[in-house]
Amino acid sequence: MSQNGGVSTSNAIFEIDDDDFSRFSEKPKPIITERKRSFDEKSFSELSIPMSPRPFYRNTENSSRVFEPVDSIYSSGGRSGFDTPRSDNGFETHPIVSEAWEALRQSIVYFRSEPVGTIAAIDHSEDKLNYDQVFVRDFVPSALAFLMNGEPDIVKNFLTKTLRLQSWEKKVDLFKLGEGVMPASFKVHHDAVRNTETLVADFGEAAIGRVAPVDSGFWWIILLRAYTKSTGDSSLADKPEVQRGIRLILGICLSEGFDTFPTLLCADGCCMIDRRMGIYGYPIEIQALFFMALRCALQLLRPEGEGKEFIQRIVERLHALSYHMRNYFWLDLKQLNDIYRFKTEEYSHTAVNKFNVMPDSLEDWVFDFMPVKGGYFIGNVSPARMDFRWFCLGNCVAILSSMATPEQASAIMDLIEARWDELVGEMPLKISYPALEGHDWKIVTGYDPKNTRWSYHNGGSWPVLLWLLTAACIKSGRPQIAKKAIELTEARLLKDGWPEYYDGKTGRFIGKQARKNQTWSIAGYLVAKMMLEDPSHLGMVSLEEDKQICPQIKRSHSWTC
Ligand code: GLC
Repeated sequence: MSQNGGVSTSNAIFEIDDDDFSRFSEKPKPIITERKRSFDEKSFSELSIPMSPRPFYRNTENSSRVFEPVDSIYSSGGRSGFDTPRSDNGFETHPIVSEAWEALRQSIVYFRSEPVGTIAAIDHSEDKLNYDQVFVRDFVPSALAFLMNGEPDIVKNFLTKTLRLQSWEKKVDLFKLGEGVMPASFKVHHDAVRNTETLVADFGEAAIGRVAPVDSGFWWIILLRAYTKSTGDSSLADKPEVQRGIRLILGICLSEGFDTFPTLLCADGCCMIDRRMGIYGYPIEIQALFFMALRCALQLLRPEGEGKEFIQRIVERLHALSYHMRNYFWLDLKQLNDIYRFKTEEYSHTAVNKFNVMPDSLEDWVFDFMPVKGGYFIGNVSPARMDFRWFCLGNCVAILSSMATPEQASAIMDLIEARWDELVGEMPLKISYPALEGHDWKIVTGYDPKNTRWSYHNGGSWPVLLWLLTAACIKSGRPQIAKKAIELTEARLLKDGWPEYYDGKTGRFIGKQARKNQTWSIAGYLVAKMMLEDPSHLGMVSLEEDKQICPQIKRSHSWTC
């Protein structure tokens, strides 16, 4: 079984009226060869690809809410798609690029003749479950591909339709969900008798395990910023209903409660890993997305009325969150050694082992995995618990959002290089490492046959993660790492039919229950490819370090050595 459950139509049907946003032509557009560029990377020639290790940090975007029009800075000169066999900067266009575009276009979902998203997978050989839906998280790489290709309309439509869905009352049985919750997914319901179309959304009330899509709202904010940055059009973000949507999402995250940490407490399965996998608590994927969404919101929120108050709360939270993450989630050789020697049962403010972690909870694999040079953000930190597993998405987003210091970003890259066989192997990229096996698998996953060792979320390899790796590599000045990974996928992805994930220690096998023609595998490849060819796209998904928001680290500076 997939995580994806069928959608009940009983309480989740939303009639979406045509609204005031722009219309689309019914037919998919041809690829636009004159591509718009993100506008904060002024001199593209500063980045030459067979690269010097110089990091790609040079925009001035921290001046919030400054979105200049793209064309004022760039003359268009990009290329993409079928019709240009060779790029400006010496890259050969791989033959699978055109196949990928065609497959991506086939996945477009229309609502009342307007493109509103892309379907998760077009695979007729399998029980569809809800792979016939538009998932918020899955649409992000599709959206980026369209933005990079100068086709922002589908993205704008997606953002506005999902915003309308947010305003609906959502319930699981008798329990009402938070107002700001964004759907995990939606689909278009055609009523042949009434000849109408309605949107049907799932906020977790139909999903297997009733998992909460905590990441959806964060991705929505991140995508809104990418759209604004790519198009230079801030009129969408400035609309009162969009401003309200941002505030509603953040309202549920910033509310005061019993928390003793600035991280966000979540139930298992709250993100891309949407099944029980022992990520409950403070999973790195959510913390990194939360951090990034907060920073994007700072740029998007209008500093008036309620917006002003939110900005203040965001700044305070970011300050505490970056301190917490950079200090307590970070693991490198020095920190590992410190934990290994931790004393326990320390009381009071002077405690070194603040969370009372038992050194015996360090598993053997961590000592082998940790290179001399390198480090990463671990999976989870809470009382007496450190989940030392590596999670790819969280670490890449940590780099893109600058939750990681520049030194930590480099260290993550060092680790990926040093542990290439484990994390990349034959097919990029491991979603998590290592796999849970035997007794651990039974206890942690609850005997989940889909998440057996080295499969699916449990150490499986997901091509979609390629775009995140590529963006993180470019940002930290290591694009050659991404190039190697992209080449690996090019050897197989199309041939294998764009699978959702691969299995095995090195990712050699097409995943046991992997869907074929999985849209985000297709879009992830395209985005990686376009970004590597034209790193000025990076600005859409990257934020520079803001020293005022992120306090200096007090703990050992082990990663600087
Ligand atoms: C699976 C994945 C989830 C994805 C969905 C649609 O449930 O775990 O991350 O969004 O499929 O592709």
